[in-house]
Parts: sequence; C-alpha cells; structure tokens
Amino acid sequence: MLVYPSSQLSDIQEVIAGYTAKNCFLLYDKNTLQHCDKVIRTQFSHLNDAKRIVIPAGEQYKSLDQSIKIWDTLVAGNANRNSVLINIGGGVITDIGGFCASNFKRGIDFINIPTSLLGMVDASIGGKNGVNFRNIKNQIGTFSKPKCVYLNTDFLETLPRNELHSGLSEMIKHVLLFDPNALELILKRSTISEWISEEGILKSINYKLNIVEKDYHDNGQRQSLNFGHTIGHAIESLSHTTKKPLLHGEAILLGMMEELKLSENRFNTPVKIRAVLKAVKKVFFPILDFKYRFEKLIPYLNQDKKNASGIGFSLLEDVAKPKLKVMISIEELQNELA
Ligand code: GLY
Repeated sequence: MLVYPSSQLSDIQEVIAGYTAKNCFLLYDKNTLQHCDKVIRTQFSHLNDAKRIVIPAGEQYKSLDQSIKIWDTLVAGNANRNSVLINIGGGVITDIGGFCASNFKRGIDFINIPTSLLGMVDASIGGKNGVNFRNIKNQIGTFSKPKCVYLNTDFLETLPRNELHSGLSEMIKHVLLFDPNALELILKRSTISEWISEEGILKSINYKLNIVEKDYHDNGQRQSLNFGHTIGHAIESLSHTTKKPLLHGEAILLGMMEELKLSENRFNTPVKIRAVLKAVKKVFFPILDFKYRFEKLIPYLNQDKKNASGIGFSLLEDVAKPKLKVMISIEELQNELA
C-alpha cells in the first residue's frame, strides 16, 4: 500500500491527474469540508470542479443510511468503473468511503486522505472498511485497499486537542507492540509535538503496514493490533450510552490498562508497562475518568469475539511480545477486573 507524505506531493498529484475531473468524487464530513477543502483545492487544482459529497460528522453517521446517500450521489454523478472516491476526513470518512467504493459497481478505486491522527496511523491504512449496524461497530464491511494514502500532517493543526490525544493511544499501542525500547521512548516523549512529526507518524504507519502485509485478512499476527480493543470497545460503547461519551483513543487507553492486568495475571507481564501507561494518562488525558461497573460491559463483551471457550483477547507478554487468541471467560474477567 502506497503512502505518500507531503514531500511526495507531486507523485500523488500525478496519481489523481490519472482520473478525469468528472470521474473524481470527494467525500467529506461537514467539518473536514470546512477545514480541509481549501488545502485540497490548492494542492490539487485538478479537483476544483470535482463533485463533493458531504455527510454529517460523527460515528453515528458511519451507517448504511449514509452509505445509500453516497451511492445515490455517485449514481447521479454518473460514476463508473473508472471513477475514484477520494475520502478526506477521519476514521469515519475513510471507513465509510472505503466501504462505499469497494461495493459500488463491484468496486471502484478509492484514495484516503486522513485528516485526524487516528485516521493517519490506523483507520486509513490496512484496507479494513465498514459501517456500524444495529449498534455494533464495523458489523458490515470489506477488506479492500485504497489505491494510495496521502499523509499531510498540516491537517492536524486544525484538530481539537482531545482528538489529537485520542490518536496518540494507537501510536502508543504500536510502540508497545513492536518496539523493544517502547517504555524509554514513551517516557521520553512528554509533549504531543514529540509524537506527531511526519517522521514519527510514518514510523507508526509502517509498524502497522508491516503486520498487515504478513496477515492482511486478520487471521493471525494482525490480531495483535486488537490489544486494548476488546475491553476498550466495550468501554467506548458503554460510554456512548452516557452523557460523557469517550473518544476512541480514550477508551483504548483504558482498555490497554485493563488488558495489561489480564496479561500480568497470566504471563507475568512486567507491571512497569501499566505504570508507564498511568503516567501517559496523567500527562495526556488528565481529566479522563470513566467509572463503570464491570457487569455493564458484559453485553458488549459478549458481542465481541466470543465463542464457547470465552472471549478472545490479544494481550501483551512484554513489550514487543504480543500474545494472541487468549481465551478468557466472563467469570474470569469478573474476578480479575471487577
Ligand atoms: N485497527 C486494527 C486493524 O486494522 O487490524
């Protein structure tokens, strides 16, 4: 999968110029249309007359209803097998855009231009696309790779602070999973700007691309990327039923801390890792405080990777040593986390 940083702008301009303007469709949400369209018009004058499709901003719009609106607009604009959908936004936009493109006329090209940190290091790369369905995240979707990804870190300048920090959790996860010096590195980077250089983001992307190359369809090693996500997704979903919904990365940080407890109990995982995440929480998520009773997570956990022997987890034996397919029953979770 090709990722072009802004130093290779001319290369991505060439890719986009390979499509006639009439065949280019740009997908935005209301926020990214407001904040990013100007840059797109400046950097890709070829796209000035291209059709814009705009959906509302927010996870609740990663839906089949919005997909139908996107497909309707593609049909109305006479999109065909030579068309390209260019997805400009965070994870919601690249997920739904990739989903719509990969199903339209059995699949048209799409290009991702992530504008959030989370989108840059995770959602826009790796070829997983989808929408939420019946309150379950990514229930309907496809594996289909974007033609390429354009990484322009200037977009991060308009991102609210909490959104930026939300993306940081996935970068920290990549470092814990793949870098033997993870703890020193995490402790050394005490400001957000030390994390979000183009070089730092490319390194994080490459960790993920490397694992995706080995296991695109997520049957083995790729599952290590789920570390923190089994409990994290349950916390995220539960928080959405309250007045204080958490951002994805906030829930994932809490999920990683909980799943480290499970790791410590099984694999003697050094407690220092959890202590470092506590320090991260203090610096980057000082007001993050989501109290819940474990029982409330059970319905969400039961929806996720459950089979007869329990819930499947991707844990961590030590830094750079993931443990996959660890089955844990609800009773065990209750004893260890409640
Ligand atoms: N976000 C996890 C994956 O792409 O597999």
